[in-house]
Order: sequence, then structure tokens, then C-alpha cells
Amino acid sequence: PKAEFVNDLMSKMTLDEKIGQLNLPTSGDITTGQANSSDIAKNIAEGKVGGLFNIKSVEKIKEVQRIALEKSRLKIPLLFGMDVIHGYETTFPIPLGLSCTWDMKLIEKSAQIAAQEASADGINWTFSPMVDISRDPRWGRISEGSGEDPYLGSQVAKAMVNGYQQNDLSKNNTLMACVKHFALYGAPDGGRDYNTVDMSRIKMYNDYFPPYKAAVDAGVGSVMASFNEVDGIPATGNKWLMTDVLRKQWGFKGFVVTDYTGIPEMIAHGMGDLQTVSALALNAGIEMDMVGEGFLTTLKKSLAENKVTLAQIDNAVRLILEAKYDLGLFQNPYKYCDVKRAKTEVYTMANRTEARKISAQSLVLLKNMNQILPLKKSATVAIIGPLADAKENMAGTWSVATNMDKSISLIAGIKEVVGNNAKVLYAKGSNLDYDAVFEEKATMFGKTLHRDNRTQEELTNEALKVANQADVIIAALGESAEMSGESSSRTNLEIPQAQKDLLQELLKTGKPVVLVLFTGRPLVLVQENKTVPAILNAWFAGSEAGYAIADVLYGNENPSGKLTTSFPRSVGQVPIYYNQKNTGRPLMNKEGKFEKFRSNYIDERNEPLYPFGYGLSYTNFDYSNLKISSDKMNFDGKLKVSIDVANTGNYDGKEIVQLYIRDLVGSVTRPLKELKGFQKIFLKKGEAKTVSFEVSVEDLKFYNSDLQFVAEPGQFEVFVGKDSAVENKVSFELVK
Ligand code: IFM
Repeated sequence: PKAEFVNDLMSKMTLDEKIGQLNLPTSGDITTGQANSSDIAKNIAEGKVGGLFNIKSVEKIKEVQRIALEKSRLKIPLLFGMDVIHGYETTFPIPLGLSCTWDMKLIEKSAQIAAQEASADGINWTFSPMVDISRDPRWGRISEGSGEDPYLGSQVAKAMVNGYQQNDLSKNNTLMACVKHFALYGAPDGGRDYNTVDMSRIKMYNDYFPPYKAAVDAGVGSVMASFNEVDGIPATGNKWLMTDVLRKQWGFKGFVVTDYTGIPEMIAHGMGDLQTVSALALNAGIEMDMVGEGFLTTLKKSLAENKVTLAQIDNAVRLILEAKYDLGLFQNPYKYCDVKRAKTEVYTMANRTEARKISAQSLVLLKNMNQILPLKKSATVAIIGPLADAKENMAGTWSVATNMDKSISLIAGIKEVVGNNAKVLYAKGSNLDYDAVFEEKATMFGKTLHRDNRTQEELTNEALKVANQADVIIAALGESAEMSGESSSRTNLEIPQAQKDLLQELLKTGKPVVLVLFTGRPLVLVQENKTVPAILNAWFAGSEAGYAIADVLYGNENPSGKLTTSFPRSVGQVPIYYNQKNTGRPLMNKEGKFEKFRSNYIDERNEPLYPFGYGLSYTNFDYSNLKISSDKMNFDGKLKVSIDVANTGNYDGKEIVQLYIRDLVGSVTRPLKELKGFQKIFLKKGEAKTVSFEVSVEDLKFYNSDLQFVAEPGQFEVFVGKDSAVENKVSFELVK
């Protein structure tokens, strides 16, 4: 029936109406771009619009849908998209933080709640998940992905797609997902957003493609093209990428949308004028033009000049109509426009409670000397820093539907958790230090920056006075939300200097200091790691951030998050990632001492400060008795790898047990370690468990130099432990 329905509808459509379906303007309601589409209402009435995005509220959406249904000739309902990235009004941690839960059920749940809330407010399509692998913390959008690892990234991609789509787009509480940004957007030269990407195909297939493919395998309804070039051709005009890889190799059946003005941007890339680049995009396999209006204004001419074919236009229209059909919009165009649902299903207490729990599990304890944490609820605490009382910064980047005024600041969270038990003192201590640079941008996002006009000396003096009255100091420092995210690349990965100086002054008081770090990216924390006794990385944990952080600081929750990106010691180490190759001249000493004519730096060690997979708990987990069921495996066989994990500390806690594999000899060079399994377990204090993994040939496969996905016989090592620096291993041979 779908094919018949769509064919019948298409037989009634004029060429203009067909091209209209390929056009996706922005409402201009939320987005900040200059390319505001003109005459939207008129265009909808004339059948020249396929969907609209970033319009918030069920009432407004209903009004716009009504124009399509009552004024346009064929009454084709519109898609309503939005950047629902990490929650809707109930906001979850930024995706990088969310990935540090390593908990696919929670991640799926967060997407399901986001879908429930957004669909209750009229939205049917989300531009998420963003699954771009990134190994470069200079790149601001590292905050929106799941880190550096293709295996973990693929699991998250699948969980997010399942969470949004629930395998059933006909329901009214699911959203069509859009995996982005295809492809390689996370690997721009120098970490500068939108910059050139240059990568070998073998690296694309092994390291950067897997999460996009995982989303496609999970049935994602749509794909967004990336802004960057891939192999010399912008992704938006890249036929190899969009047709050969995405459709022919991976079997993608949905539609591809550009990222914003991706089509006209190809003019600046040097690919030709608007008509040329629009034809290039359609020929490559792009179906929908977001904002660019290249399809709308040039495809008819290109058809007349035989630069595109009617079959190509029809194919694109068909895919978009099929998506609308799958969403059930033809049966009920107002399916998502139930005003009652918007009032009862958005930002509910139940959703916020879930978010609080998920946010707590995204936090990563980086250091906890002398068990300073958890804090006693009775201690007098001084919360010092520009992020202590900063609701507007809690949700982090791309939280377009969040009501910032309602977000829970760190102070509010701590006050709730300690109740009347203790005195909670506060001083700002310094400005964020990047306020001036970000003022303009922050205003555009509708946020107010509370810049304090006192001098740094005055702010420090006040902070020290407050700190001296406390038993313990919590320093709430780091980046503002807008220092990461789109178009927020940095060359300096330190905490802004004014805040670093403040921290050192606070340490001089001799009081215990806990650094609660807010950040959208891995930072260089060498000085802080050396001088501060406890560091809790809070990312931007969402609308309930303050509660979640306080829950962890005071031991209501035992931290269990583990890093999904390496934290460098120096910006000069970037790109940095755990699954490196050995090179022909690896360093020979384990202490990281400099060796001449070996692959290392004269002024820095090779390893990161905190490796991928790293994160502490208030309790201790001991690993012992690593075993493998055999030292040989056939291609159709399976091996069991097991390890005993014991909670030997004083708290119940969760641990993320990680399994890595090294392929010792290959037809192409292979990484030193690759994550191939993990389990998040809960152990009561004093409890022990045997954790088992199954290894099969699928875990040993990689793309060889012919881009075939193969496993090769030979020797393998299997490491199991608490992070990617694990050395505890067993080995086996894969035999033919
Ligand atoms: O979805 C986003 C994308 O990630 C960046 N450019 C704008 C799009 C739509 O808002």
C-alpha cells in the first residue's frame, strides 16, 4: 500500500510540487544562521515546502501544518524537524557526557524520553544522533558525539536510533532519527570546524564509518550530509559517499538531507555556481535541501538542460513521501499536534527524575586523593567559581528546547542534597574569562551572561574570604556551554587563565579543594591534576545537572562514568586516541622516558593524562584470574574470556569492565588495542563476580587494503580491565 499510495500521489504532482517536497526551510524561530528562508507561508501554500525545522511549540506547528493542509493543492503534510540532541525540555548530559555512562539502556531511555517530549510538542523528526568520531578536542563539536572509539560509538548510535524510533514510527510518541554528519565531520584539519578533511579510505572504513553504518543497520530514517569534503569532494556532492557507500554497500533506504546551506556552500568550496552544485548534490544522492534553496530555484532549469533527470527527482520525492507515510502523517497529519499531550508529557517529574539519574552516571571522577569525596553533608561548604550559580550553562550546547531558567545550578543542587544540614556559602571568584569573545554568540542563543564588573583582585579577595569560613571548597570552573559545540574550536585546551589563577589561590588556603569541572571537551588538566586533591568532571549534565553533581559529591550516587575520549597532557599531542598503531619505532621503555630515533616527543610523554575508559569510583575494584577457554579458535568457533572482579572498598558501586583485542600480525598494520566488549556491573561492597565475554571471529574483522571486511588467521591478545591502559592479557590463535 505504501508504494501504491506514493505512486498515486506522485502521478498527481506537478514538477514544481515535486521539487517543493525537496525543500526544507528553517522557521527562523530558533536557529541563528543568516540564511533565513523567505515567504515560508506563501511557499507552503504553493506546495513548495517539504518540511520545516526548529519551530517550537505544538500550537505554532499546528498552525503551519494547517497551511499545508488547507491551502496547498495536494494537501501533503509537512515534516517538522528539530535539533533534539540530548533531550527536549528535560535535558540530558551533552552526548559526550552521556556516552561516559557506557550504559546503552540508559542512553536509549534518554532518547526515548526526548522523543516522547518532542513529539508531544509537535515535532516528528530529530537531527540526531550525531555519531562523528573525533580524536581532536580542539574541535568544539566533540561535545556532540560519543568520543573516539568506533565500537563504543556504534553501540551508542544504535541505542539512540532505537530510543528515538522505537522501531515503530507509526506511534505518536516516537521521532524519525537523522544520523549525522555523514561523513568524517569530526576529523577537520587542525580541529577547526568545517575545515578540510583528508583521510585514507582504510581509516574511514575501520575507524570513522562504523557508527554511521550502525545507525543505518538500526533502521535510521534519514541521514544528514556533513559540511566537509571527503576525498576532495564535499560530502554534499559526493556520489561515492552518498550512493556507493551509503546506498549500495550499506543498503540505506531512507532519505539524505543536507546540513543547512550545504548545497550553496559548495560554491565556496569551488565546485561551481548554484545551479551546478545543486545538480551535483542531486546526482550524488541528496534528497532534501535544508535552507539552501538550491533545489527549489535551479532543478527545473537543470532538468530542461539535461543536467539532472526526472527519474532522479522522482526518486528523491518518493523517499521523502515514504518517510511521511511511515510517520503516519497521511493518515493523520495532526498526529503530533495534541495540545493536551504537550501540557502533560513535557518536562515531567518522572522524566526529570530519570534525567537526574542518567546525569549522575555520566560524571567522571578523575582524581580523589585521600578519599576527600564523598563529602559529609554536615560540612560547611564554599562553592566558588563562575559556574557555581550558572543555570544558563548547565544544559550545554545544542539544547534548543531547554528552559534555561529552570535548569538546576550547582548551588541549587547542593542546597537540596545537604538540606538543612550545612551552611552553603558562595562567591563568584572570577568571570568565565571568555565572556567577551562569546558575548555576541551567547546573546544570539538567548542567554544572558552575568559578567561581573569587579576586578579579578576584588573577585579573588571576596572568594578567599568566603573560602576561609568553610570546611571544604568546591571550585566550579571550566568552560561555558558555548565554548564547545558548533563553531567553537579552540587552540588552547586549558581552563581559562583567570579561573586557573583563582584555583591556585583557593588551594593556598590549605582547605580541601574539590574541582567540579564543566567542559564540553577533554581539557589539558596537568596543573590541576598535580595540585588539586579531587577532580570531578561534570561535563554539561543537562537540566538536572546541579542535583546530579550534588548526588555524586555527597555520595547519594557513587560515580561510575568512564571517559570515552583521551584527555591529553598537551595540545601538541592531538589527535590523541588509545587505539593507535605501533609504528616501526615504538618507544621501548614503559616509563615514557624520551628515546632518540623513536616515535615520541622531546618535551612530552606519548600517553594522555587520563586514558580512554578511565574513571574512578568511591570504592575499589580488584581484577584477578583472567582466563580464556582455549588458546586456539576456528573461524566458526567462539572463545570465552572471563575475569573475577571484586568490590574491595567501602561502597556499593558500578564498574565498567572493558575488553580489548590486539591483532598481532596482519596484512595491514593493526591498532595496539581495540575495544571489543564491555559490561557495566553492580557490586555491593565486599561482593565479587566473574565477568565473562564471548569472542568470535566477528570481533576480529577489519577492513583490509581492498576494503574487504575480513579476519586473518594468526595470534591475538585479549586484555580485560578497568581502562584502555590495561596490561593484563591472555592470548589465542585464530586458525583456518
Ligand atoms: O542539525 C544541525 C547541524 O548539526 C548543524 N547545522 C545546522 C543543523 C540544523 O539545525
